[in-house]
Amino acid sequence: MHRILLVALAAVLVSPPARAQQDSVARGEQDFRACAACHSLEPDRNMTGPSLANLWRRKAGSLPSFDRYSDALKASGIIWDDRSLDAWLTDPARMVPDNAMPFEGIKNARTRADLLAFLKEATKPGAAPGQTAQGMGGMMGGMMGGGLVPNLKSLQPSERVTSIAHCRDTYRVTTADGKTRAFWERNLRIKTDTSKDGPESGTPAIVPAGMMGDRADVIFAAPEEISRMIEPRC
Ligand code: HEC
Repeated sequence: MHRILLVALAAVLVSPPARAQQDSVARGEQDFRACAACHSLEPDRNMTGPSLANLWRRKAGSLPSFDRYSDALKASGIIWDDRSLDAWLTDPARMVPDNAMPFEGIKNARTRADLLAFLKEATKPGAAPGQTAQGMGGMMGGMMGGGLVPNLKSLQPSERVTSIAHCRDTYRVTTADGKTRAFWERNLRIKTDTSKDGPESGTPAIVPAGMMGDRADVIFAAPEEISRMIEPRC
């Protein structure tokens, strides 16, 4: 009898907050879309911003694999925890003047609380997408697993660049399916990706950019491949 009463009491006392916590994490996962273009949750997968894996208790600006920290963030002395992250997300420029995160901040306290509830779970060691956190929601495995940055190691013939000719203001890009497309030179962006997501050496990838179909990115495995590949020819 006592046991049953206790269990019932526990259910009443524990489950509403636990439920609220779960809802908060779920909302936070949605809110993280504002960050996912720049931050992954996978250890050392850096994009515009550093990976946020294992964020709690980390010193600001200290991830060794991220090369683009501002001096301001590195010198800030901040240790990331609930409070410092709340202040950072409220107004990054106010907390660390001259930091390099292009983000204006989140003024809504509940949104920040949700986001932090989610991040606290999703940045725990071993919680990287593709591992345990995948069970937390469909989006994490797909989008946050790096889906925003397509892996270029295995390409369709239509994506595999075999030659590029440059004539006056035009690039002609030929792909492994035998097709050649012409681009105004200002509409073709030349990029590199030396990471594990980048293309194989010698087989740059062409990726559509923008909505109109007139622009594309050609992504090389390394900078020295660029001029080797582009042939001046009319
Ligand atoms: C447009 C890209 C961009 C967006 C969007 C963005 N960040 Fe950042 N973030 C960065 C960059 C770049 C840095 C490094 C800043 C510096 O060195 O001053 C950074 C740094 C951070 C850091 C410090 C990490 C460390 O290693 O010290 C945290 C935490 C962070 N961002 C969280 C977030 C969250 C949460 C969001 C979404 C609400 C977000 N960021 C949105 C680009 C972005």
